[in-house]
Amino acid sequence: MGELIKFLGVRFFGAMIGLVFILVLAIAMITDLTSYFSDPPEKGAEYALHKEPLDISFASDGVFGRYDNAQLQRGFQVYTEVCSSCHGMEYVAFRNLEDIGYTADQVKVIASRWQVPAINEQTGEATLRDAVPTDRIPSPYANEVAGRAANNNAYPPDLSLIAKNREGGAQYLYSLLVGYQDPYIGYDEDPAELEAKYPGVAPGPGLYHNPYFPNLNLAMPSPISVDGLITYTDETVEPTKEQMAEDVTAFLIWAAEPKADTRKNAGLAVLIFLAFATVLAYLSYRQIWADAKRKVAPKGPLDPEHMAEREEAKDEAAEHGRGVKG
Ligand code: HEC
Repeated sequence: MGELIKFLGVRFFGAMIGLVFILVLAIAMITDLTSYFSDPPEKGAEYALHKEPLDISFASDGVFGRYDNAQLQRGFQVYTEVCSSCHGMEYVAFRNLEDIGYTADQVKVIASRWQVPAINEQTGEATLRDAVPTDRIPSPYANEVAGRAANNNAYPPDLSLIAKNREGGAQYLYSLLVGYQDPYIGYDEDPAELEAKYPGVAPGPGLYHNPYFPNLNLAMPSPISVDGLITYTDETVEPTKEQMAEDVTAFLIWAAEPKADTRKNAGLAVLIFLAFATVLAYLSYRQIWADAKRKVAPKGPLDPEHMAEREEAKDEAAEHGRGVKG
């Protein structure tokens, strides 16, 4: 008997303790959920102030879009004179520039403006030599550590594939380049209000404010900060900030996919061929089955002659007020 009471007691208290746990958890869940909905969590500055990329279109957009070599050359000029002091393009060899309309000789001259690491053949020591067309566009820094050391501990990423590996693609790149602003100008709130609402919205030391950058402040100073920063070789084009940003973005789109034009041309040719082949296939189907169809004559009740006879018989029967079956 004593054994039984002990056993029940253990069971009963065990179950009670479990129930209390469940109850406490349920209460906690309900209060958390109600407060989540009645008083939703504040969104941080990087959500509230972040802007979606501007809507800008490029000559190369869409199935029928093709690269505009004049624009790509201007973009390359912006890259050379502005961006290349911090960013390399390790997947673009100088000879690839022939694709955007430079001649082999021009490419040689262009390449020779860069220096790449080499070995001195006499002494075996590390040295630098002028680049040749087969070299890739080098990073200005010996390695990532050196790059970070020069840029407030942020590494300027390689730009060869940047148009493909950032959300928003080319639109994002363009917006980033033209989107630098004073953190306190361009938002509705006045500075004190803004700082109270979003502490730390202003860039820290060595950072710059840009609402298109995911966390609003980045270590790259506005690279295209004024109109007329460079003089285009093609003097008919005005080097405004927007123009330079658009041109260098177009160049980065090309760098990330230099064969897009060939791919689109091949795709269109294939589609036209397939459409033509479909028409041919349909015509030959008609041709091949033309005889065969005529030869397949239905027999029995489905024979058109029989059917016509039956219809006639029915009509006749109806006229004489009698029903005929089948
Ligand atoms: C003074 C050096 C410097 C120059 C010049 C410069 N950049 Fe940068 N860039 C940086 C640094 C540093 C970063 C990394 C910023 C960070 O992550 O905070 C960066 C980052 C970027 C990014 C990546 C942004 C992202 O989403 O992560 C792009 C794109 C870019 N730069 C494009 C350009 C272009 C185009 C030019 C020329 C018009 C240029 N940069 C000129 C230093 C520079």
